[in-house]
Amino acid sequence: MGDDTWAPLADRFVDGHYGSLRGRVRTHVIDAHLRWHLPPPPAEVVDVGGGGGHQALPLARDGYEVTILDPSSAMLARAAEALDRESEEVRRRVSLVEAAGEQAQALLGAGRFAGVLCHGVLMYLDDPEPLVASLAGLACEGGVISIAAKNAANLAVRPALAGDWKAALASFQADRQVNGLGLDTRADTVEGLTRLLGRYGVETVAWYGVRLFTDGWTPERPALDDDDDVLAVELEASRRDPYRQMSRLFHLIGRRRTE
Ligand SMILES: C[S@@+](CC[C@H](N)C(=O)[O-])C[C@H]1O[C@@H](n2cnc3c(N)ncnc32)[C@H](O)[C@@H]1O
Repeated sequence: MGDDTWAPLADRFVDGHYGSLRGRVRTHVIDAHLRWHLPPPPAEVVDVGGGGGHQALPLARDGYEVTILDPSSAMLARAAEALDRESEEVRRRVSLVEAAGEQAQALLGAGRFAGVLCHGVLMYLDDPEPLVASLAGLACEGGVISIAAKNAANLAVRPALAGDWKAALASFQADRQVNGLGLDTRADTVEGLTRLLGRYGVETVAWYGVRLFTDGWTPERPALDDDDDVLAVELEASRRDPYRQMSRLFHLIGRRRTE
């Protein structure tokens, strides 16, 4: 546990973030687009940095064979707790593996998965390339690679809406920002990630925005909104310009080229 940097954050992320409608917008929007691109179950899917299993467990419920890989034993413990609440049939379809994404190929096998997910992880890595190379290597030919990254194009929005104009001005030149968990994070661009994936035989086939109108919500904001209405509006915004460009995260779908 000594080097489990996510141990002190696991409860805040799993209960705090996903306990709110704002947090659930992320999984809802990503899930909708992911399902559109994935082959049907029982295809094999790996969620790299899958944390508490919020994105992967619904796939297992629907028949996908799912591996959740994460270097944090604390985060995997939360995934195991969630898995305990599932039926025997779903539990049999899920494997939990404790390892960093960069080592995943050696552990799980190259070219194996029809779906390789990596959501909300690249922003914590100073150099995304080793992990991106590993994601590409895990996918089978024609396999789908699904990455959610922080959107460098809109970093001025949060400080500006909070009235911190000096920070907002600096954000136009920046690719880093402290996030809601208090961690310094790195942002990507769709174009930059597309170039990087291209070096490893993956072409971008689509991209979407993730979380626009709810991004500035604070825990103090009264929860008066209808969940279904909010999720429907965020989903519509995620797939059209200019809204997707202004979203806090972007969701890129790549496909491993066939030789
Ligand atoms: C913000 S959480 C996201 C969890 C999950 N993907 C989700 O969307 O709910 C970030 C996760 O990335 C994991 N992580 C950090 N560095 C990693 C690495 N090098 N390889 C794989 N996962 C990593 C952390 O342990 C943590 O569980």
